[in-house]
Amino acid sequence: MIPELSNPSVCMRDPQRVQEILQSMVKAGSNTVQVISDFDMTLTRFAYNGKRCPTCHNILDNSNLISNDCKIELKELLNTYYPIEIDSSRSIEEKLPLMVEWWTKAHELLVQQKIRKDLLAMVVQESDAMLREGYKLLFDHLYEHSIPLLIFSAGIGDILEEVIRQAGVFHPNVKVFSNYMDFDESGELRAFKGELIHIYNKREGALLNTGHFQELRTRPNVLLLGDSLGDLTMADGVHDMENILKIGFLNDKVNTISHSHGLYNVSIPLTSL
Ligand code: C5P
Ligand code: MG
Repeated sequence: MIPELSNPSVCMRDPQRVQEILQSMVKAGSNTVQVISDFDMTLTRFAYNGKRCPTCHNILDNSNLISNDCKIELKELLNTYYPIEIDSSRSIEEKLPLMVEWWTKAHELLVQQKIRKDLLAMVVQESDAMLREGYKLLFDHLYEHSIPLLIFSAGIGDILEEVIRQAGVFHPNVKVFSNYMDFDESGELRAFKGELIHIYNKREGALLNTGHFQELRTRPNVLLLGDSLGDLTMADGVHDMENILKIGFLNDKVNTISHSHGLYNVSIPLTSL
């Protein structure tokens, strides 16, 4: 067994099953493996030194590209909808339309701010964005072994790409599915491209990207990393899956959501800020 799995911060519903999955993947070899990961609060940290770290959206919301009035409105949206996102007493069916409402309203506000493409790198540089401990080892190791890493995020693609670029880990084996900004010829944000990705439609997003999974059809062993229940569907487009190891990072409301995170094979609760 991998020594890190005996760390007290790692929970496994069925350690025997985890062992079987791992053994089977090791036997099949790294050329049969692909990794699919969520971004916000999975590849990035939830908190550092007792302080919450920003999501892709928060990086923009807190930046000087946003007017003070708009910041207040975005904060109100966060205060209204984030508690709903992490409320385990409500069903996904009940939460889904509210999450669409959150993303739609927030994106409308961002578009009104005429954000400039050429300032995004600076905004990320000046933010408190932080990748999770061990990120470099993960990204570099996957690259060295030519293992594809799909980052599947309901955040903002332009921002997340900048975070991994500045951290020096945007290697050629990394592919991103996310919400991308659409800029006009003068470089100002005018809309978001394509279908909205929110936390509960990653399955649909996966099924739309058949080409990607078709290319990776010789890799039926999947390592899935996420922090929300919606992330469990990120691998639904994988062809003829043989093994999947689902690793969940339990960030907020660790005690109340622990039952639902039983859906992950391995879960890593964050016990305190
Ligand atoms: O990368 P990931 O799929 O985790 O990105 C989604 C996260 O973005 C959600 O967990 C949500 O809390 C956050 N979000 C935000 N502001 C918004 C919309 C979503 O911080 N306006
Ligand atoms: Mg997340």
